[in-house]
Amino acid sequence: MELPPKEIHVWYCDINQTLDSGSYLGLLSENELDRLKKYRFPLDRKMYGTARYVLKTLLGDYLNIRPPEITFLYGEHGKPEYVHPQNIQFNISHSQDILVLAFVKDHAIGIDIEKITKEVRVAEIAKNFFSPDEITALMSLPKDSRHKAFYRCWTRKEAFIKAKGSGLSFPLDAFTVSLDTDEDAQILKTDWNTSERLHWNLLSFKPYPGYLGAVSVNGNFESVKYLDWNALESTYRPG
Ligand code: COA
Ligand code: MG
Repeated sequence: MELPPKEIHVWYCDINQTLDSGSYLGLLSENELDRLKKYRFPLDRKMYGTARYVLKTLLGDYLNIRPPEITFLYGEHGKPEYVHPQNIQFNISHSQDILVLAFVKDHAIGIDIEKITKEVRVAEIAKNFFSPDEITALMSLPKDSRHKAFYRCWTRKEAFIKAKGSGLSFPLDAFTVSLDTDEDAQILKTDWNTSERLHWNLLSFKPYPGYLGAVSVNGNFESVKYLDWNALESTYRPG
């Protein structure tokens, strides 16, 4: 698989349709196996193991490296990265059964996926985490559009802080994203530096019914490819 400059690859995967755990354990490092054991619930264990397996397999393919040789470094707030002269940046996210991974050369990237649930308390969460402009934009929408708009806002904000690598140390109310439509994804305001928003791109995507995703990338890109791991997994099977 080639990753040309200025192309973003977004992979998506339903972990119920993927390999059983025996197949991926061989790719995990000792540290990763230790972490795997700490997950109490089988679904969380399977997600962690599958995510590492898919991530290493794809990075190995892009960079022509054997996947077990890939070891990650972690940023100050836990963002994994892989140091290599080809500088492939990546980020992963998971929600319930769905795993998504984003790759691009030379630019910081963040991805988020959320399963859309009916029970979420939109107004209350928005009040606690969104910027004043986002709260105004959300509350001015008709009531039956707010739920979707809430998820657009949430995933876009999280993709942005994940691209920055800052996690929740970054003030979520210090920047404003658009939330009206799936198509028009933008950073509208970055309070700490008015021009920073111009250096970022955002997009929303729907990998599966009932899920919403967003990607944020620092810099311009020319194309995005969406790739289904489940459909392509057999081509990556060793042997
Ligand atoms: N920056 C970017 N990516 C990070 C990261 C960081 N600081 N720390 C971890 N990651 C990566 C890891 O690969 C992790 O997966 P792994 O643990 O299996 O390796 C993956 O991101 C997890 O992403 P996601 O599935 O989206 O998890 P999350 O939504 O629970 O948490 C955090 C993402 C840790 C980066 C952080 O933003 C967080 O805790 N968010 C909580 C949700 C929230 O309040 N969002 C606000 C939206 S308004
Ligand atoms: Mg998330």
